[in-house]
Amino acid sequence: MCIKFGLLMLLACSVGVCTFATKIEPIVLVHGGAGDIPNMRVPVKFAGMKKSVKAGFDVLKAGGSALDAVEAAIKVMEDDEAFNAGFGSVLNTDGEVEMDASVMLGNLSAGAVSIVRDIAHPISLARLVMEKTPHVMFAGSGANRFAKEQGVPTVPPGSLVSPSAKFSLDVFKRVQAWRMETDHTITNSSDTPTEVKNPGDVGTVGAVAIDANGNLVAGTSTGGTNGKMVGRVSDTSMIGSGTYCDGDVGAVSTTGHGDTIAKVCLAHSIIKEMEHGKSAQEAAKHCIDKMTSRLNHTAVEWDGLTKKVTRYSQELNTTK
Ligand SMILES: *[C@@H]1O[C@H](CO)[C@@H](O)[C@H](O)[C@H]1NC(C)=O
Ligand SMILES: *[C@@H]1O[C@H](CO)[C@@H](O)[C@H](O)[C@H]1NC(C)=O
Ligand SMILES: *[C@@H]1O[C@H](CO)[C@@H](O)[C@H](O)[C@H]1NC(C)=O
Repeated sequence: MCIKFGLLMLLACSVGVCTFATKIEPIVLVHGGAGDIPNMRVPVKFAGMKKSVKAGFDVLKAGGSALDAVEAAIKVMEDDEAFNAGFGSVLNTDGEVEMDASVMLGNLSAGAVSIVRDIAHPISLARLVMEKTPHVMFAGSGANRFAKEQGVPTVPPGSLVSPSAKFSLDVFKRVQAWRMETDHTITNSSDTPTEVKNPGDVGTVGAVAIDANGNLVAGTSTGGTNGKMVGRVSDTSMIGSGTYCDGDVGAVSTTGHGDTIAKVCLAHSIIKEMEHGKSAQEAAKHCIDKMTSRLNHTAVEWDGLTKKVTRYSQELNTTK
């Protein structure tokens, strides 16, 4: 299976206004990120997503809330090295993990964190922001301070850095150096071909759920993009881009080229189109097509270069 980077794996779940008395069948859907997933990584990602969706569904089956289900499902993937969230997050140029997460309820309550460090479950911290503060988003040292105040345990510095994330950053840096050598218009902060960003792609994670009471919830968690500049904030932490939920309409969690998704407020755009009558599928397709036609970074591109760079990374891989 090969899911090309930029074709967003996107989940949306739609319900009518839940005022009728019939019992609603609980549902949880998860995604493990979009990207050019090498065949050898597919089994671990599938296994991780199955475990995740089971954890979420176990909560719903036991009569739990959609919020608990989304949190449980995302935590499983944050613990799993196969995904770009929590342990296994990709690294910034300094070789550090800086993570983002957000969560939103059908009544428009929302919480998010950005650039948090040394927290195993950023999704749980985003939930605490929503539940325990009058604010929507905490970032950087303030987010970590809030975690401490809430008794959220921190893990030792560096312990979220996985071997494959280290390897990916190494490849990223070598390819960037090689590109700068061969093309002098390219600088250290130039964007890089998608195949290089995540060699052995790991993927942002997300979940949407509806519980037996008809409550909708969406959540998303990520380590960002491989080789990102220090302090970069991702779409995943932005309510309206990475996550959106409206109890009258639906719940959306996005993944893909984050700096593009952020420019079109993708999750919110999809909800708005659904609100105006489109199905989840139609709204998602229309918004992604529109985004792709306006901004190029959503479809596979870099044609000539991609081939060259792919060959180069393969050489690195095989010579390692
Ligand atoms: C939304 O729902 C949550 C969970 O039931 C509740 O705690 C919160 O106060 C609600 N927010 C608003 C704005 O009604
Ligand atoms: C690019 O960044 C790396 C560190 O990530 C640094 O070692 C290198 O000197 C930089 N190159 C230039 C030309 O700035
Ligand atoms: C997208 O690509 C087309 C064709 O290569 C180019 O003409 C256009 O300027 C690009 N748009 C952006 C926003 O980069």
